[in-house]
Amino acid sequence: MMLAGAGCGKAVACLQLMTTSASDPAARAADLRAQLQHHAHRYYVLDAPEIPDAEYDRLFQELQAIEAAHPELLTADSPTQRVLGKVLPGLVPVRHAVPMLSIRTETDTTAAGAEAFDARVRRELGLEADAPPVEYCAELKFDGLAINLRYERGVLVQATTRGDGETGEDVTQNIRTIGQIPLRLFGEAPELIEIRGEVYMRRDDFERLNERQREKGEKSFINPRNTAAGAVRQLDPAQVAAKKLSFFAYGLGDVQGWFQPATHSATLDAIAAFGVPVNGERAVVQGAEGLAAYHRRIAARRDALPFDIDGVVYKVNDIALQKQLGFVTREPRWAVAHKYPAQEQMTRLNDIEIQVGRTGKLTPVAKLEPVFVGGTTVSNATLHNLFELRRKKVRVGDTVIVRRAGDVIPEVVGVVPTARPRYVANFRMPRRCPVCGSAVVRERGGVDHRCTGGLFCAAQRKQALLHFAGRRAMDIEGLGDKLVDQLVDGGLIRTLPELYKLGVAKLAALDRMAEKSAANLVAALEQSKHTTLARFLYALGIRQVGEATAKDLAKHFGSLDRVMDASVEQLLEVPDVGPIVATSIRTFFEQPHNREVVEQLRAAGVRWDEHDGTADTAPRPLAGKTLVLTGTLPSLGREEAKALIEAAGGKVAGSVSKKTHYVIAGEEAGSKLDKARELGVPVLDEDGLRALLA
Ligand code: IVH
Repeated sequence: MMLAGAGCGKAVACLQLMTTSASDPAARAADLRAQLQHHAHRYYVLDAPEIPDAEYDRLFQELQAIEAAHPELLTADSPTQRVLGKVLPGLVPVRHAVPMLSIRTETDTTAAGAEAFDARVRRELGLEADAPPVEYCAELKFDGLAINLRYERGVLVQATTRGDGETGEDVTQNIRTIGQIPLRLFGEAPELIEIRGEVYMRRDDFERLNERQREKGEKSFINPRNTAAGAVRQLDPAQVAAKKLSFFAYGLGDVQGWFQPATHSATLDAIAAFGVPVNGERAVVQGAEGLAAYHRRIAARRDALPFDIDGVVYKVNDIALQKQLGFVTREPRWAVAHKYPAQEQMTRLNDIEIQVGRTGKLTPVAKLEPVFVGGTTVSNATLHNLFELRRKKVRVGDTVIVRRAGDVIPEVVGVVPTARPRYVANFRMPRRCPVCGSAVVRERGGVDHRCTGGLFCAAQRKQALLHFAGRRAMDIEGLGDKLVDQLVDGGLIRTLPELYKLGVAKLAALDRMAEKSAANLVAALEQSKHTTLARFLYALGIRQVGEATAKDLAKHFGSLDRVMDASVEQLLEVPDVGPIVATSIRTFFEQPHNREVVEQLRAAGVRWDEHDGTADTAPRPLAGKTLVLTGTLPSLGREEAKALIEAAGGKVAGSVSKKTHYVIAGEEAGSKLDKARELGVPVLDEDGLRALLA
C-alpha cells in the first residue's frame, strides 16, 4: 500500500514535468540546464555525485533532443556545448584587460622564508614592532599553467593563457573541455568577472595516462605540469579532452559590476560559491609564525596531496592593505611564493639492475648516485621497461633526471645530454630470469618482459606473499620482507595457503625468530582469516585488479563464487572495468590452480561476510544484472522500481542492448520494448520484476 501511494506521488510529479516539456520546451531546456549544471558541479568539483552517471546521461540526452528540435533555444553556456571544437591553425594572441603578474619567490625552504616576507610587509606598511600581526591568506602553489577565465554576465566567454603577462593566447575551446570549469557561474553573476587560477593534472590522472602510453608502447609524459601546459596549448581539442585536466582558482583579473569582498579569503569563498573549484587547503593565518606553521603543515602533507605543488603562496589578506602595498616592477609587494624542495633532480646513473615483480614482470631499475629529491634521498628509480629505457636513450654513466612526487615510485624521466666519455653498450634484457633461471618472454605487441617461472620463481613467490600479507590486503602483521625471504628461501612455503599451516614450532626455528614473535605471527595469521571479500580479491594478486577494482567487484557481485563464475560480459558491467581488466579476471579464474588456491584458503578458514564492502546484508538476487525500465508499471513508480533493483544488486540502464538481462515493461512501453524483442531480451511485467526481486 505504502509503495503504491508513494508511486502515485512520483508519477504525478513526473507527469507534470512531462507536460511542461511538451508544452514549453524553453522552460524544460532551462530546467535541464540548471539540473545538469548542478550535477556537473557535484561530480567534477565536489566529487560527490547525487545521481548515477546514467541518469545524468538521460537528462543530457533529453536536453540535446530539445535543442535539436528547437535550435533557437541553444545557448553558449548549455552543457551540451562542451563538445569538441575544430582543430585550430594556431593560437590567437589576446591582450589581457589586467596584466597577469607573477610573484616573487622565497627560495629559502626553511621558516626564514616566511619571516623575511612578513618583515618586508611590516616595514613597507610602516608597522611598529609592537603592532599586531598582519593577517595573511596562505594557499598552495599549484604546479600547472596559469589561466584567465572571462565570464560576462555569468557565461564563460574566453579563456587565455598568461603568455608574457601582457598578452596571452586564446585557449577557450580547450578550456571548455575541462569538466570542472563551469560554462556558467552559479548564482547572481557580476556584469564581468575574470577568474584566475591554475590548470593542472592530478597525479593519478597523470599516472593513468602514462600507464596507457606505456602499454601502447608510446612515449610517456615527463610530469603532470608539462602535460597539462602542453594540453592547454594544443590546437586539437580532442587531444585536450583525452588528458583529464583540473583547475583551481586563486584570484581575480578584470571585474565590473561586483562588490569584491574586503579580504582575499572571502573573495576565494565567493569564487567557490560561483561554482569554480577553489582548493580547500587555504588558511587564514596571523603573522610570520602563522605562515611558517602553514609551510610546515603543508610540507608534511605534500606527498599525500593528489596533485603536485612546488610551494605555498602567502597573500596579505586585507584587500585595502594590498592596494596600499602595491607593486614593484611586475610583482605585487603583498604576495610571495615560498618554495619546497624540487621534485626533479639530476644525478648519475651508476648501474641498471633487473627486479622481478609479483607477476613476473622484469623491471629495469636505475641504481643512482644518491640524490635529495621531493624531500627524501633516492638511490633507486624505475625505468619501467626496455622500450621506455631505449626511447630515453639511457646508458650507465649518464646524468639522468629523477622525479619523485607523492607516493609514486621514483622514476627516471630523462637524460641530460652530455658527451659520454667512452662507449657504453646498450642495455639488454636477460633471456633468463636472474632469480630462477626460467625463460624470459615478451607477449607479442606487449612492452613487458616476464619471467615464465610463476610461483616456481622465488622472486614471484616472495612478492605474491608480501602482497597477500599487505596492509590493504589480508593485513598479516609481522610478515615483512625479511621473514618472507627466509620462508621462501628455506623452502617452508611454496603456495599462499601454506602460510596458514605455519606453526609456532616451525617459525621459532627460523633465524632471529623468538618464540614470542612466532606466537604473535601465528595469532596475526589467525586474525587475518576473518576479512572482507574486497580485501580477499585484492590479496589474490590478480593482474589488473587493484584495491579499487576489488572493491567494485565485491560490491557488484556480492559473493566470491559469482565473481569466479562471471563471464567477461558480466565483468564489463562493473563500473570502471574495461576489456583488459575483465579478461585478466576471467583468465585468472579459468586456471584450475588458481581455483585450487582459493579453495585451500577457504578450507584453511579464510572467510568474510558475503556482500561485504557495503553494510547491507540483504540478499542481492540481481547482482551483475542490467535491467531497463520502460512504460508505466501498475503500482511501482520508476524511482521505486529503480531503487528496488539497485538494492537487489542490479543496475538500471537507459537503453536496451545485448548486455541487457531483462526489460521491465509497463503500459505504453515504446521503442525499448521493440528493441528488446528484436534482440531477444526477456521482457517482464511488474509481477515478473517482483518475482526476480524475491
Ligand atoms: S597568485 C598577483 N596563487 O604561480 C598574484 N599564483 O608567479 C598572482 N600559482 O604562474 C599569482 N598557485 O600561476 C597565485 N595559489 C596561487 C598560485 C599561483 C600557483 C602560479 C601562478 C603563476 C605563479 C606566480
